[in-house]
Amino acid sequence: MYIGVDYYPEQWPESRWPEDVTLMKELGVNVVRIAEFGWQLMEPEEGRYDFSLYDRAIKLLTENGIKVVLGTPTATPPAWLIQKHPEILPTDENGVQISFGARRHYTVNSRIFHEYTKKIVTEMAMHYGQHPDIIGWQTDNEYGHEKSDRSYGEEDRQSFQAWLEKKYGTLDQLNENWGTVFWSQTYTDWSQIPVPRKVLQEHNPSLLLDFDRFCADAYTSYNKLQTDCLRENIRDDQFLTHNFVYTDQAINQWDMAEDLDYVSYDNYPVWGGLAEPVSPSAIAHQHDLCRGTKNGKGYWVMEELSGAQGWSKIGYLPRPGHIKLWTYQAISRGAEAIVYFRWRAAHFGTEEFCHGILDHDGIPKRKYNEVKEVIDSLKEHGDDWIASKYEAQAAVYYDTENAWAWNIQPQSSAFSHRQELLRHYTPAHKLNVATDAVNSRSSLEGYKVVFVPIYFLENPIFTEKLKRYAENGGTVVFSYRSGVKKPNNFVTGQTLPGELTEMTGITINEYESLQTGQQNKVNGVKGSLSGLESAATVWCDLIDPVTAEVLAEYDDCFYKGTAAVTKNKYGKGTVYYIGTALEETMLTALYKEIFQEAGAEIIETQNGVEVVRREKFLSAMNHSVDRPAEIALPEGNYIDCATNQKIKGALKLAPLASILLKKE
Ligand code: GLA
Repeated sequence: MYIGVDYYPEQWPESRWPEDVTLMKELGVNVVRIAEFGWQLMEPEEGRYDFSLYDRAIKLLTENGIKVVLGTPTATPPAWLIQKHPEILPTDENGVQISFGARRHYTVNSRIFHEYTKKIVTEMAMHYGQHPDIIGWQTDNEYGHEKSDRSYGEEDRQSFQAWLEKKYGTLDQLNENWGTVFWSQTYTDWSQIPVPRKVLQEHNPSLLLDFDRFCADAYTSYNKLQTDCLRENIRDDQFLTHNFVYTDQAINQWDMAEDLDYVSYDNYPVWGGLAEPVSPSAIAHQHDLCRGTKNGKGYWVMEELSGAQGWSKIGYLPRPGHIKLWTYQAISRGAEAIVYFRWRAAHFGTEEFCHGILDHDGIPKRKYNEVKEVIDSLKEHGDDWIASKYEAQAAVYYDTENAWAWNIQPQSSAFSHRQELLRHYTPAHKLNVATDAVNSRSSLEGYKVVFVPIYFLENPIFTEKLKRYAENGGTVVFSYRSGVKKPNNFVTGQTLPGELTEMTGITINEYESLQTGQQNKVNGVKGSLSGLESAATVWCDLIDPVTAEVLAEYDDCFYKGTAAVTKNKYGKGTVYYIGTALEETMLTALYKEIFQEAGAEIIETQNGVEVVRREKFLSAMNHSVDRPAEIALPEGNYIDCATNQKIKGALKLAPLASILLKKE
């Protein structure tokens, strides 16, 4: 397996390079990523290309057995280009042009930028495309991140209008699908249609959703422009990847991944001013999204946090054990290569405080030794581990368009799409039920449970798949506000839950949004929920059961006694509806009952302890910084892959410890 570092030779005197490479070799590094921000160096003036610095760095690295992944440098268009074509710069929703001075300072709709992109990428590909030790290419860097997913300039508007004309064909179709009769917005010419710059109130939700679709399509096309230039000039065995970010931007990773060989991902459990890492389930969910983007294919962690990160604000210092813990968690969930960010903290520039394996003094210390321990620990079994299958028992719905629809209309000040999605993902993670991320492209075959939380923008293709899955014996779990919107972002004209009514065996005739700080209460009345109670926050769907049985009821307000959680027999399967945001205790109890009834394997562990199986391999990570853990291992004899010690029954883990076992 490939394990390496993100290296910026251009940021150091060449006299230091040999020492860097020696230290990398001693560490066990076998791959580096370089050049993703090197456009100025490679094209110091228009049309003059100079790859000499990277040639020398690549020569030194590859002579020492270290392979190279090259980044195309389009995230940092050089000053001379912006001076000549300032129209490349993006425009924010206030109509203000973004300044040169950082990165990602381009609108993906600039045709001029497309031309310069083709030139630099083609020149790089012709120069490096046959190099035997350059194994792959990363296009650009984190498309859409740092608010670069949307641009609201003149060329963006013209491109949006053309995209709409292609999608709808006629203005009548567009006006009908946007409901433009509302507030007298009917368009009589394509050129009248705005990009959603600032208005005094809020834009038409159908326009906003189409704008996000347009932005995502624009990036997918832009990436394909790059991959086409690369594939024409590189060896077939040089892979193409992009390091995605999965934070609900107007990017469709699934579309873009069709033009890539690998998904890559930047794993930062803690960044900037955060006082502590995000939850283990939040990190795990990101990995599940990566693995799900190319239908279960392994992915690269192209940036694995190795030191405190931040620009003008830094925060949490990863504790001893964290580097191994997050590396093991990543591989457990499908990563097949790990590249640590970054080799060494820079002395200058915006990222002076993005720490790495080495700090500013370049001296190997604790983090260097920890990375060495991780690499050594993977030497014997790493290849077999990454080759083993990750077999999910459950699936969690994630759809970019549903995320965009929610971010357009959160409907409650307490609503966060990512948090509410995690609310339903976390119980499976706590119970160590292996999960996949699925959407309308996925097959649901083989899953014991499919949970579809906050299925706001109903997708007819996925709904049909869910119906067949449930009819054939599957278990489906919906949560509140499911079935509300049609694909054009209209609210359904049916009584809620709309197309889901028959499956769920309920109707929802009223509902209310709860704001931050507000809550109702829910009492469990049946099954595992009996005797339990929970706050009900964010939203309350007032459920009227038709064929469904009631598992919990509201306990407050005029709708006291109204159903809050229901269970319905549908075909040979079972369909649950959770009409409000429940607290973790009640939700975990419910999911535990659901998983057990569905026959999904549960491995119960104490809080913060994650156990993941990949065929014969079983990895365990104790995310707690201060609580030791004891894990009751599933049946069988195991060996510790690091020590070859035999282990059976109970496994003890110190705080922040992680371990890989192999079943004999
Ligand atoms: C992102 C970027 C990197 C760097 C790191 C800093 O993931 O891809 O270029 O900015 O963050 O943590």
